[in-house]
Formats: sequence, structure tokens, C-alpha cells
Amino acid sequence: MTDAFHYVKGQLYCEQVPVAQIAAKVGTPAYIYSQNHFIAQYRALREAFAALDPLVCYSIKANSNLALLRAMALEGSGFDAVSRGEIMRALRAGADPKRIVFAGVGKQADEVDYALEKGILMFNVESESELELISKVAARRKVDAPIALRINPDVDPQTHKYIATGKSENKFGIDLKRGEECLKRIRQLKNLRLIGVHLHIGSQILKNDRHAEAIDRVLPFLKSAKQQDFPLEYLNVGGGYGISYEIGQGLAIAEFAREMAPRIKATGLKMACEPGRFISGNGGILLSQVVYVKKSAEKDFLIVDGAMNDLIRPTIYQAFHKIWPIKHPGLKDGSALGADSPLTDANMGEAQVYDVVGPICESGDYFALGRKLPRMQEGELLAVFSAGAYGATMASNYNTRSRAPEVVVNGSDFWVARERENFEDLIRGERLTPRETFKAQG
Ligand code: LLP
Repeated sequence: MTDAFHYVKGQLYCEQVPVAQIAAKVGTPAYIYSQNHFIAQYRALREAFAALDPLVCYSIKANSNLALLRAMALEGSGFDAVSRGEIMRALRAGADPKRIVFAGVGKQADEVDYALEKGILMFNVESESELELISKVAARRKVDAPIALRINPDVDPQTHKYIATGKSENKFGIDLKRGEECLKRIRQLKNLRLIGVHLHIGSQILKNDRHAEAIDRVLPFLKSAKQQDFPLEYLNVGGGYGISYEIGQGLAIAEFAREMAPRIKATGLKMACEPGRFISGNGGILLSQVVYVKKSAEKDFLIVDGAMNDLIRPTIYQAFHKIWPIKHPGLKDGSALGADSPLTDANMGEAQVYDVVGPICESGDYFALGRKLPRMQEGELLAVFSAGAYGATMASNYNTRSRAPEVVVNGSDFWVARERENFEDLIRGERLTPRETFKAQG
């Protein structure tokens, strides 16, 4: 992990830019990303698996900011897309279509047609019905569609149940027995070329052996497909590599590669993978300002200007995100997320336990409950860390709130890579009557 976010003399920096300087320019709430963190993580993954020369397809859903996709494309990254929109984003960012894979349980005919027109690397197929559809659309285009079968290996990824995808009860992939049926069907259907097998068992997986077990389970299927002369080229081992939200938690990528690489090599197939969070998660923060400090009979609340519409992970997965002030005299120099924490009980000064909550009309609107922080004042700024993945991409306009801007930092440069939405953005396309378009007054 890079030191993208670090404290110097009690102040938080993103790369070489003081976060306070960005706040002064763009206001709050705001997402701030370190471009170099994305690149460093991409390189670290490529390096850990260097012997296999893997095709890394960054999973767009984690963070789809165009400027960052562009940086990834320039680095040579491929992309994992899950909708026509995500393919369009990747292409707009300059991606090579031959490095785009397309997953998802509900692909529609127009999306399949679009992906074929653009010549993507392969479809990760999730059902028999999808095979039929892709074959039909490809026949219409008079092309062969490159496909991989997404196998559901029934492995417990040991993660939050909402982000487990590789167990038999999940909607994703095809179980091993049906996989054999699919092979038969592929032979009967025209315009399909089976070039890969795909696995993705879940997200934020912290144990080294979960992916390995998935590979072990799919081996008999790979053997069978090869014996039937399918021209397999790729084993796509998916994403899901867990990161550090709390100190020392993240997957050790070198150890993980040691567990995985020999298994992948033994298949004789080319490795593809689809990390999202691993690339982006610790490359972003959500910056918020304390609007009110509120005392109730039971608790102290920090009411901040960011909310669940900006970052919904605490609400729906009870996810832990580190939260610290961006300025505090006690903070030691060093990485905000490193093992040697810049903020400990010893240097916190006067501390207070807070619920850090947003302005939205729901009790689930919080970033942290019962969190010990230095005593905060109204107007002070807080960073919610590890917000680079599944933050902005899951944001909404709930309570008619504008989505926060996204700022990208590269060294000592920063720019607003996505503007804060304004009221006109929020009501675009709304009509009062069949003829009247809503016009803002005043
Ligand atoms: N490949 C496929 C087919 C996926 O469905 C996903 C994520 C990925 C790759 C990337 O997974 P990653 O490396 O980022 O774990 N909103 C949740 C996470 C949902 C993940 C959905 N699929 C969260 O905030 O934790």
C-alpha cells in the first residue's frame, strides 16, 4: 500500500497536496483520490503475479471516475464492466476493447450487441439463457462471440453476506454440474467461442486460501472442457482481494500470489483477474465538515455535511471506515493508514466518543457509531478513509442532495475530475405536466 494519504505536522496530505487546500477550493462534502495509489496498486498486483503476466481488468464498478479510468488505461490496464454504461466509460477513457470483459447476470440484447460491435475480449456468461441470447445476437452480426463461463464453485468467501457471490445460494455463475450441460449446449449453438472460465466468489476477502479453493474446485471442469477441445485461453480468477479498512487487515498480495500462482500456472491458461477495491479502495477519502456538535441525553453526535447518499457502506454493510480530523496538533507524521497509526489514545488529547452522522432523515444515516475521536468543533473537517471503492459509484440523490464532486490528485497537481451536481442537474428531465418542463425560478 502506498502512503497516498499521510500526515505532516498534524495536517493530512493527499500525495503532495494538503487536503485543507482542496477543501478551500471545492468545498465539502468531496471525494479526493490519489491517482498514484491506483497506479501503484495495479503495478503491485502485476508484479506479484509477474511470472504469469496477468491481464488485470480493473473492475469499473468500484470507482468509475473517467480521469482515473484514463490513468489506468494509459498504464495498460484492462477493464471489467457490468453494463453497457461501464463499457462506454472504459472506451471513453481510451481503453483497448480487447482488454474489456463483460460480466453480469442480466445482460440484455442491446448490451450484448453493443459489446460485440466494439469487439470486447469476452463475455463472462452466467446462465444457459444468456448463452442462447449471445448466440442469437452474434449470429445476427455474423460474428463469433468470445465467451467464458462463470462457474459458481460453491466456496464460502467468508465475507459480508451481501458481497458473497461464490456460494450455491447466490444468483451468480453456473454450478459445476450445469457447467457440463452448458458445454453441450455451446457445442450445439452457433457463433459462440468458449475461450475462458471465470470465477468471482465475493468481495473484501481477507483469507489467502478462498480463491485457491475456488480454483481447485473448478479444475475437473477445466479438464473436461479441454478434453472436449474447447479453445480455452483464459482463467479469470475474478476480484475480491480485501484491503485494510482497519490497521493490518488487508490481504498480503505477495503471499496471496504464492498461494495462487502455481495453481493458475498448472492449468496452462493465461491469468486474468478483476480487482476493484484492491486498486481503488485506499486511494480515496470522503471529506466532510462538522456542521453541528449535538448532545443528547445519551450521546454526542457529530452532524457532518456528508451522508449515506455519498457513502452508503456503513449503512448497508455495517462497514468500518476510519475517520480522523484533517488537522490535529497531536497527529504524528506518517501514513494515515499504515501500521504505525498517527493518531493513538496517547496523542489524541482531549477525546470524546461520537456518533458521526449525516443530515439525511434516516437513523441509518451514519459513518460511525461510538467512535473515539479528538474533541471536535463545528466547522472542522473530517476525512472518512478507504472511500475510494464503492463510494461515489454507489452515491445517490436521496433527499435531493447533490452528488459530491470528485477531485483527483497527481503529485502536487489536483483538479475537479467531476463537478458537484447543481440543482439543474438534479431536476434534469423532470416534467410538471406532459408539455411543461420544470424551470428553476430565481
Ligand atoms: N468481478 C465481478 C464479477 C464483480 O462482481 C466484482 C464486484 C468485482 C470483480 C470486483 O470486486 P472487488 O475486487 O472490488 O472486491 N458494494 C460492495 C462491493 C460489491 C462488489 C460487487 N462485485 C462494497 O461496498 O463492499
